[in-house]
Amino acid sequence: MPDPSRDAGTPGPDGGSGGDAGSADDALAANPSRLALPELGGAAQGITLGGGQPPYTVSGCGDLVRTEVSGTMLLVAPRAPGMCSLTVSDSTSPTPQKASLEVSIASKSPILAPTPPMGWNSWNRFGCNVSESLIKGIADAMVSSGMKEAGYQYVNIDDCWQVSRDSSGTIVADAARFPSGIAGLASYVHGKGLKLGVYSDRGTKTCAGRPGSEGYEARDAATYAAWGVDYLKHDNCNATKDQRTQYQAMRDALRASGRDIVFSICAWRFASWMPETGELWRTTGDINDSWGSVSGIIDTNAGLASHAKPGRWNDPDMLEVGNGRMTNTEYRAHFSLWALMAAPLIAGNDLRSMSSETKAILNASEVIQVNQDLLGRQGVRVRDDGDREVWSKVQSGVGRRVVALFNRGASAADISVSWSEIGLDAGPAAVRDLWARSDLGRVTAKYTAKVPSHGVVLLQVTGKEKSSR
Ligand code: GLA
Repeated sequence: MPDPSRDAGTPGPDGGSGGDAGSADDALAANPSRLALPELGGAAQGITLGGGQPPYTVSGCGDLVRTEVSGTMLLVAPRAPGMCSLTVSDSTSPTPQKASLEVSIASKSPILAPTPPMGWNSWNRFGCNVSESLIKGIADAMVSSGMKEAGYQYVNIDDCWQVSRDSSGTIVADAARFPSGIAGLASYVHGKGLKLGVYSDRGTKTCAGRPGSEGYEARDAATYAAWGVDYLKHDNCNATKDQRTQYQAMRDALRASGRDIVFSICAWRFASWMPETGELWRTTGDINDSWGSVSGIIDTNAGLASHAKPGRWNDPDMLEVGNGRMTNTEYRAHFSLWALMAAPLIAGNDLRSMSSETKAILNASEVIQVNQDLLGRQGVRVRDDGDREVWSKVQSGVGRRVVALFNRGASAADISVSWSEIGLDAGPAAVRDLWARSDLGRVTAKYTAKVPSHGVVLLQVTGKEKSSR
């Protein structure tokens, strides 16, 4: 991104230097030089860096903010409230330059999901058949399978854990199925270094007919907090009142509960108020374990890419990887597209008995890294040639893209990506195959791969940002 202040050598407002910069002619400047990050702002704000030579390094502000530099753009996102000073330097240029940037962060709420949440949910595989022994077994398996190490964190009980309300209105868990209660289960799951999620509904009953939260938002949020719950999936069945009002009532109740509880809106389609209301929101109807379902969901979720940002995620529903009705090639495509679309990676299979192929898909660290990239951009389709598609996700750093060559057709096909269509210069770029974990060398202008039917070849391409002039 060209910066007009570069040619003129003009520092940003207030000098942009904090007294630290080099000479006024070529000083590195951050524009603006003071940044107020809004309350609850999960989004990174862009600062234009002028002067000096990339790559830039950024220091200061400890854990208060998260920063990324992409070309001449510095992105700063809040993590915790406070004030601090960031220093940007270009120590690799012959005459090192510095700029400083004053940051104030008003946020009183921590960013609960700076990257897409990763975990497991009971619904896709077990439906209503949930129990304490299942959840404990899944938590054990999340650790022993290496999934915790790979980044999975939440163990989420979906519908059917609740049976009634007591005389004071407090929600009651099924005592036969959850003999230690949800609090006992939460402490078991926490003991494994994991987090526990539960499920409710904005209406009078859940989708499976259990008691819903309508009129009990504050009481339910306080109960979950007292139990040690870390995540709430909130459904949309049996509801007659205004949707936004009810979801925001639950959001406010969770915030007032005194515990950090991720709020997962499950209302089956996007609405504009959702990014200010929850950490994630379902964008589609329910997934099922079929190629048609996965393929249709990808199309619906694709159009919503601009709403995703750090702390706020489109949710195309939980994974079906390993549930048995798709091929491993299809499961790899499903997982690849979820990773590239910055979707929550919530496994939906039986972790206690999964095959080594399923485990390898869920634990593919280089693919997970695509999903968890701190820039938090949702990848987009850059070309659609019928059954042959090219998708690209801008990653943090400079000149980094992840590309999915996606074949929806019934037979294998050659699919090409050109560097220009992913915003890179045509010169040599390093290409790595993320499923094969192998470097494919430096390649000029474009790359072509044979992609199996219903498959994805997932590439990391590291080149030079295309200049916009
Ligand atoms: C809805 C949701 C599903 C699941 C069920 C539970 O259909 O979309 O993800 O939670 O309810 O009843």
